[in-house]
Amino acid sequence: MEFDEMNVLWCVTGAGHRLKESYRFMSNLQRVTIAFSNAGYEVARMYGLLKDFERLGNEIILEKNQYHSSPFCGRMIKGEYDVVVVAPCTANTIAKLAYGISDTLITNIVAQAIKAKIPVFILPTDAHKIQKTKIPVTIDADKCKNCDVCLPMLNCPSNAFFITERPRIDLLKCNACQKCIPHCKYGAITFGSIVEVRCREIDIRNVENVGKIEGITIFERFEDLNL
Ligand SMILES: Cc1cc2nc3c(=O)[nH]c(=O)nc-3n(C[C@H](O)[C@H](O)[C@H](O)COP(=O)(O)O)c2cc1C
Repeated sequence: MEFDEMNVLWCVTGAGHRLKESYRFMSNLQRVTIAFSNAGYEVARMYGLLKDFERLGNEIILEKNQYHSSPFCGRMIKGEYDVVVVAPCTANTIAKLAYGISDTLITNIVAQAIKAKIPVFILPTDAHKIQKTKIPVTIDADKCKNCDVCLPMLNCPSNAFFITERPRIDLLKCNACQKCIPHCKYGAITFGSIVEVRCREIDIRNVENVGKIEGITIFERFEDLNL
């Protein structure tokens, strides 16, 4: 069976890095259930992808509705899915997996999938020393003139702006519609700016250790996803 014909359980954790790529690959699949960690649900919204994911999934599973025991994971043992993919996978979820912790929806899915002999494929975000990543909407403090009337703020449909010593954006309210951007004549607001981050040694080590767990395959390129 080809990967795109399988019944896939796709787990989205709270990572912006490689989120859009994950969405793009997922959109080629015929049968996909999407499970969001709490952070995954928030971060997908910040990058403007939440609605797209929701349209794509045959079913959407939210960690907040699974309380502490994640009863959804019982489906693993019933063999309801052919494969589990975690992409993108945060350093946090990788760390928990490396130490056998399964106290969240996604770590519990992975643990139960392994027990049920369902193959698990994981795309970690923090696997290399230096990486470039895109950030959601942000206000450049050097360009912001702190105008008496902040037009982007007035035109934000989500009421996501607030003022401290200058305007700021509450990312938990922002849905990345980007309507604010053209209203700043100083070009202080951007979406998808690229920043360089240094991954921690411990996160890179954790990825290596997760890769040694029977039943888990770490991958970097979606072309490599196969059984
Ligand atoms: C905009 C945004 C982007 C983030 N991107 C990443 C990322 O690429 N990799 C990562 O490890 N954590 C990232 N985080 C931090 C995680 O969301 C945070 O560690 C969270 O606790 C992870 O929870 P989870 O592993 O249960 O999904 C990001 C947070 C925000 C607000």
